[in-house]
Amino acid sequence: MKHPLIDQLVDRVDDALVNYFRDKDLTCHPLDRAMEYSVLAGGKRMRPLLTLVACYELGGSLDEAIAFSLAPELLHTYSLIHDDLPSMDDDDMRRGKPTNHKVFGEANAILAGDALQTEAIQIIASAPHSHLDDEKRITMIKELCLASGRRGMVAGQVMDMEAAGKEMDVDRLVKLHQRKTGALIRYSVRLGAMLGNADESQLLDLTAYGQSLGLLFQVVDDLLDVEGDSGLLGKTAGKDVDQNKATFPKLIGLEASRKFADGLLDEALQALTRLPQQEKLLGSLANYVRHREY
Ligand code: IPE
Ligand code: IPE
Ligand code: MG
Ligand code: MG
Ligand code: MG
Repeated sequence: MKHPLIDQLVDRVDDALVNYFRDKDLTCHPLDRAMEYSVLAGGKRMRPLLTLVACYELGGSLDEAIAFSLAPELLHTYSLIHDDLPSMDDDDMRRGKPTNHKVFGEANAILAGDALQTEAIQIIASAPHSHLDDEKRITMIKELCLASGRRGMVAGQVMDMEAAGKEMDVDRLVKLHQRKTGALIRYSVRLGAMLGNADESQLLDLTAYGQSLGLLFQVVDDLLDVEGDSGLLGKTAGKDVDQNKATFPKLIGLEASRKFADGLLDEALQALTRLPQQEKLLGSLANYVRHREY
């Protein structure tokens, strides 16, 4: 993304993640090496960016938000490691490198994912903050669990597996995508909104933005599986077709999927109109999500 502040934030997140794994008591243990391998392999850092930018646009402190923003990224990385397992999507490449289980073995990959998930919760529970009250912190933890567990991402992953090769309607596919990918993206925005001390109407608007953006993110991921390039994506293109996955291009075709994505971008931008936006970064992020090439 070509905005200097966004580039700077990605660097700050990357630095914070490197520091996170610098705990000398833990290094060299195979579990920590497996966790670090996938987290530090790269990635767009979209979820922490959303947390940070939502917080920033509301006038919140970026310095204090950085540590919190790592939580959705660690949780997301766990989901990628598990998503790639032979029993799930059976992928060989992720973030431009061999998948976690290819390097560390299946058992370590599963356990690295497990530990990344609990680390995420631990971060929200304990990251220092000058004025965050405990009630809000508990809400943040509760929402992270809701977004990622049996009502969110994990449910979406089960729906995704069940749906492969089966008949599907658009409403159900929307629900699947909202769960497997949308819920954590929506959460990442809400986390930033809470850190930025959003009032009730700002929280509602940012939630609407996060909801549209989360669905948009997965629709574009579906499109990139068809139109993208494995080298650029850092993961194997064409997997969804191979595995007969339920995707938007499969269900409604490429052209209609692009239009659907454009409509979701408009919805996301519409949700921002009443919000204070010094730098219009949330709009830039939404445009990026729609037009990204990886
Ligand atoms: C890929 O997520 C998996 C989905 C939830 C669609 P990203 O496209 O955000 O992957 P990274 O974090 O940049 O590697
Ligand atoms: C991934 O969906 C969703 C989660 C990891 C929760 P995909 O299976 O489409 O993601 P990619 O394409 O492998 O990144
Ligand atoms: Mg999958
Ligand atoms: Mg996959
Ligand atoms: Mg995909």
